[in-house]
Order: sequence, then structure tokens, then C-alpha cells
Amino acid sequence: MISNYFTEMKNEVDQALDQHLLPSDCYPQSLIKSMRYSVFAGGKRLRPILVLAAAEAVKGPVKEVMPFALGVELIHTYTLIHDDLPALDNDDLRRGKPTSHKAFGESTAILTGDALQTFAFQLMTNVELMKEIPPGVILQAVHELSHAVGPLGTIGGQMVDLESEGKEIEAGTLEYIHRHKTGCLIRSCIRSGGILSQCSETDIEALSRFGENIGLAFQIIDDILDVTGNQSEIGKDAKSDIKSGKATYPALLGIEESKKKAKLLIDGGIAYLDHFNNSASHLREIALYFISRTH
Ligand code: IPE
Ligand code: IPE
Ligand code: MG
Ligand code: MG
Ligand code: MG
Repeated sequence: MISNYFTEMKNEVDQALDQHLLPSDCYPQSLIKSMRYSVFAGGKRLRPILVLAAAEAVKGPVKEVMPFALGVELIHTYTLIHDDLPALDNDDLRRGKPTSHKAFGESTAILTGDALQTFAFQLMTNVELMKEIPPGVILQAVHELSHAVGPLGTIGGQMVDLESEGKEIEAGTLEYIHRHKTGCLIRSCIRSGGILSQCSETDIEALSRFGENIGLAFQIIDDILDVTGNQSEIGKDAKSDIKSGKATYPALLGIEESKKKAKLLIDGGIAYLDHFNNSASHLREIALYFISRTH
């Protein structure tokens, strides 16, 4: 069940993306068209909403962090485009539409991912757009986010994910994959909302623990939906993990145990939000949505 909060925030993020992403008539149009195609194909916008909700939890300047929130959505979208490529997961459907390489060809899809990633950093370092936030604070947030999506974060996770295809791996390796390919960015979105709001160390600590827990849970639930969801609902290829022999939680623990593990992580994460009282009600709502989502 999607609440008013999600609908409103998603609309705000979508409008701001439309405003800040290069316009469709910008040259080279083929590149811009394919960037806009993937960004506006219909993502849930959970990561930018997490940045905004974390800023709200620490009573920060929510509107002011929007350009940074848009940046994380662009980075996320680039990882999806590259993740779907024939050389990686080889999937045909994303966000309910043909994947970038299916719609525009493989070379355009690779360049579109590159373009979205670099454009994201251009946006996240645009100090003119975030005037209330000191440039040094923005630098700290961008530095940390780059770590989260780099070789020791997302990309490290993606590498081990690919290397583990068709293999029996240990539980610790599976946890590494999930915490890195997905958890690191989610945790960093939440921390960024706090960092950009110049919150206290104890606030950051609580946000981090919350982010770590729900980040791992998010990927476990994604694994479950790959098995139990149908293509039209999840908007991407169903049973894709089974076909490629991916290391997943359902493969390791079965569906019921995986659901229990995800629920424990979500509840454990939410417990850290007690630190903030009511200001974290939207973060709490997002975490509960993670567990109930069907796509
Ligand atoms: C999909 O993320 C990729 C994973 C990390 C599991 P989302 O489920 O948030 O995808 P969109 O952005 O809504 O399309
Ligand atoms: C996605 O993992 C992680 C990244 C894109 C970084 P998956 O490969 O499970 O994501 P989906 O299921 O294709 O969205
Ligand atoms: Mg993948
Ligand atoms: Mg994939
Ligand atoms: Mg998946």
C-alpha cells in the first residue's frame, strides 16, 4: 500500500528530475533520449526519498538536499542499465519497459550508464543549487557516496555477484554481495541526508545502523520477488536469478526463512530510529514498505 507521503515525494522527485536532467532537444539527442528513457521508465524513487526522509529525521533542510537526492537516483539508474547488459544479467525488461540495450542497442546503453553516472556527480557538486549547505559538507557527502558506489561498494558487490554465478558459495560471501551491490548505496543515501544536514555523530550512527539493516533486507526481498513475483508486477524479468544461477537468499535459505530474515533486519533497523522520535516517522514508513512491497 503506497501512502500519500510516497506519492507526494515521488512526484516531487520526478518533477525535479525533469527540471534538472538535460532537455530532450539537447545534442546529442540520441544519448539524452536514452538517458531520459531509463530515468522516466517508472522507478519507485526509494533512494532519493530516503535522502529526503533522513534529512527530515534530523530536522535538516529537506528541500535543499534535493539535487543530491536526484544524483543518487541517476547513479542507481545507471547501475540498473549496466546490470541488465548481456555481459552482466542479460535481462530484457526493466521498470516495465524494454531494457536500455534492447531499446537502443548495447553501445548506447553503456554510454547512457556512463553519462548518467557522471551527470549525477555534476549535479551533486552544484553548490549553487544547495546554497544553504557549506561546500565542505557537500564534498564530504559526495566523497562518501563515491566510496559507497565504487570498487569497495556497489561495484565490488557486482563483481562478486558475477563471479559467484553457478557456484555454491558460503553464507558470508552471499552477505558480502548483497551488502555491497545494494546495501552500500541505500545506507549511503540515508547517511547523506544526515551529513548534508550537519547532524550530530550520534544521529549519523543511528542512521547508519538503520541503513545497514534495511539495505541488506532490500536485496533479500528483491531476491524473493524474483522467485515469487510475476513479470507484469515487478516490471522486470521474473525468475532471472534462477536462469543465471545467481547466489541468492531464497537459494541458500528457502523463501520462508528469507522472509523471516528480511523481517528481522527491518525490525532491527527500525529500532535504531527510536533515537529520533517522531521526526523519523517517514523513514519508519519507508522501511515497513520495503517488507510489504510487491514490486
Ligand atoms: C532494483 O532496485 C535494484 C536492486 C538494487 C535490487 P529498485 O527495486 O529500487 O528499482 P526501481 O528504482 O524502483 O526501478
Ligand atoms: C542489482 O541486483 C544490484 C545493482 C543493480 C547494483 P539485481 O541484479 O538483483 O537487481 P535486479 O533484480 O536486476 O533489479
Ligand atoms: Mg545483478
Ligand atoms: Mg539484475
Ligand atoms: Mg534481483
